[in-house]
Amino acid sequence: MTVYQLQQEILRLKKETNTAVLAHSYQAREIVEIADFTGDSYKLSVDAMNVNADNILFCGVHFMAETAKMLSPDKRVFLANKLAGCPMAEQMDADIISQIKAAEPDRTVVAYINTTASLKTVCDVCVTSSSAVKIVKAIENDRILFIPDCNLGDYVKKNVPEKDIKLLQGGCPVHASVTVRDLEAAKAEHPEALVLVHPECVPAVTERADYAGSTSGIMNFAKQSANREFIIGTELSIAEHLQYECPDKKFYPLSKKILCPNMKLTTLPDVYSALKGIGGTGEAFEILMDDQLIISARKCIDEMIRLGG
Ligand code: 13P
Ligand code: SF4
Repeated sequence: MTVYQLQQEILRLKKETNTAVLAHSYQAREIVEIADFTGDSYKLSVDAMNVNADNILFCGVHFMAETAKMLSPDKRVFLANKLAGCPMAEQMDADIISQIKAAEPDRTVVAYINTTASLKTVCDVCVTSSSAVKIVKAIENDRILFIPDCNLGDYVKKNVPEKDIKLLQGGCPVHASVTVRDLEAAKAEHPEALVLVHPECVPAVTERADYAGSTSGIMNFAKQSANREFIIGTELSIAEHLQYECPDKKFYPLSKKILCPNMKLTTLPDVYSALKGIGGTGEAFEILMDDQLIISARKCIDEMIRLGG
């Protein structure tokens, strides 16, 4: 079957099973093309609440499907590839954070959305990369514990200098692999290009960029800018999507290393098999969470939507 034929079959199965496909922008082009909703973590969280279908099939990583389930508990939510996890989401657990909270109970615990549901149960408010600065500013308390990404946390600290923000040593291994040498090499090769990076990159890289922002922030900046060339310091698919959407501009990946192996586990055949499973003729990996976990983990996501929306 060609890619086009497989996409046609997927569109047919989506209708037949009344399933909406949500795909993070780090997914490959052929998956984004068959999705009902695409975007960054924040946009997909909001989209999950507005889905008008019986089932949600998430193309992304596990914590994102879990978030969709918490926001749409009456729907069946599936992850297209059951092995797709985010290593950052697993870096800290609820026990460690509870111990730190007990030692410093006056800090508001702010969790990047890249965390497990069980960790979210001991956090006060979630943020995504697009809402982190706005939400930390909006929190009444000036004492914050920001987990797990110390690079995003450092970016927030610099943008909210009036608050006392404590960080722990976590982060995204994919974005953190980019070095200043990679950035200098890309600039030397493309001197006219603006450098746009995700704040999950290390501070030395983020500080040298022309713009730092979430996946959607980077895409919007590039689309609206009068500049014609851009070095993209986030997952490789973003440069590819931008090149497709803006054929008159030029996009260069900051480094070939920024390929998220977890996001790229999901393939078009996975989407097809999952839809067949949802229809009852195969296997599909469903996100199952007990009601109590949904209620306690959802509180900090609701708080994120309240403060960031
Ligand atoms: P955003 O979607 O918030 O830009 O985050 C990027 C990311 O690493 C998702 O896992
Ligand atoms: Fe996790 Fe980093 Fe991949 Fe995002 S890019 S899913 S934070 S490993």
